[in-house]
Amino acid sequence: MTVYRSLLLGCGPRARNHAEVYPDIPNMELVAACDLDEERLNAFTQTHGIPQGFTDYETALAEVQPDIVHVVTQPSNRVWEAQITADAGVKAAIIEKPIAILPSDILGLQKVRDESGMEMMVNCQRRYFPQFRDGTIREIMNNEIGDVYLIRASTKGNLMSMGPHTMDLLLQILGDVAPEAVWAMAYGIDETGYKAHHRAPEHTFAEYWFPGDIRVLFDCDTEALGTPGEQSFWMHLHFDILGTKGRIYVTQNADWWYQTEGMAEPVWGVSSWDKQQNDGQRDFTAAVAEWLDTGKPHLNRFETARLVFDTLVGALQSAYEGKRIKLPHDFTDEQWNEQRGGLKSADAG
Ligand SMILES: NC(=O)c1ccc[n+]([C@@H]2O[C@H](COP(=O)([O-])OP(=O)(O)OC[C@H]3O[C@@H](n4cnc5c(N)ncnc54)[C@H](O)[C@@H]3O)[C@@H](O)[C@H]2O)c1
Repeated sequence: MTVYRSLLLGCGPRARNHAEVYPDIPNMELVAACDLDEERLNAFTQTHGIPQGFTDYETALAEVQPDIVHVVTQPSNRVWEAQITADAGVKAAIIEKPIAILPSDILGLQKVRDESGMEMMVNCQRRYFPQFRDGTIREIMNNEIGDVYLIRASTKGNLMSMGPHTMDLLLQILGDVAPEAVWAMAYGIDETGYKAHHRAPEHTFAEYWFPGDIRVLFDCDTEALGTPGEQSFWMHLHFDILGTKGRIYVTQNADWWYQTEGMAEPVWGVSSWDKQQNDGQRDFTAAVAEWLDTGKPHLNRFETARLVFDTLVGALQSAYEGKRIKLPHDFTDEQWNEQRGGLKSADAG
């Protein structure tokens, strides 16, 4: 059995979830961590029993020569991080969401991948929760509820914080097909705290047209309806899937159910962030080693992550142009910066 050696970059709060799954994956070993902040690094390596620690990423790559790297940093330097990781001969990079912020970032990452062959798995780990990974919800959608005509997708975090998770699951349920068009509106921007890195409109509402006459109402907004009754801001990740003969109702942390014509009672399934996040992160991580061993495609490979990002950016472009646009988008960094200025000066109302 090949045991893959991993290096983790960035020892902030999110890194804990990455490190904690290692004891449960026999063919992967977390051999080193790196953080600019030495105190944070030392506390992290001690807590998780990681043998080596570094404060300089390039030194860490040169000395450790890992097979796999976890990039668990804020999304400000993704292209630089990917480039030097690929240059060091790393086979696979697990990159936290969002994979990019600017339209040019995703093109830069595509170039790194094409030139190096390094695969990039984006850490939208919910794809490995059983109801999504095993296709349960997708199969019910395809086979039980008639023709799907409308999906309401809703979350309270902005387009670059909760948007990537919500769009990721939406596209997975729809079979990773690209939408044909989008019409979106947006207002306000808050660039304090984590939003200084996850830059996006505070309020975005988009209507997407998917193949098969499926409309998606995508609500990514601090004022979003989200999951009725949900009290926790980050737990609002919600889908209402409406078909001609039934309906599927999916929440992030309060289960999912479906009901079709003639059924007296809905059928329920588990959807629980609290119960599923650790196993989902473990299975997501183990699937990277499986991809290296067998070539089995990872559910969060770059190709799917890029479609998620480009679908979100399409909403930005539509809001910028103030009209429905055909996809794929051709939005530029300059247009996004101009839009940011406008969002800053707009009265949130
Ligand atoms: N997948 C999920 O469910 C989920 C949940 C929460 C957060 N996240 C994502 O995780 C990412 C990280 O979040 P966080 O809260 O841990 O961030 P953080 O800013 O608290 O931690 C990042 C760490 O990376 C270090 N770092 C940055 N650049 C470095 C470099 N060049 N060399 C060495 N160290 C460097 C920083 O010093 C910092 O300690 C974000 O993109 C966030 O969106 C994902």
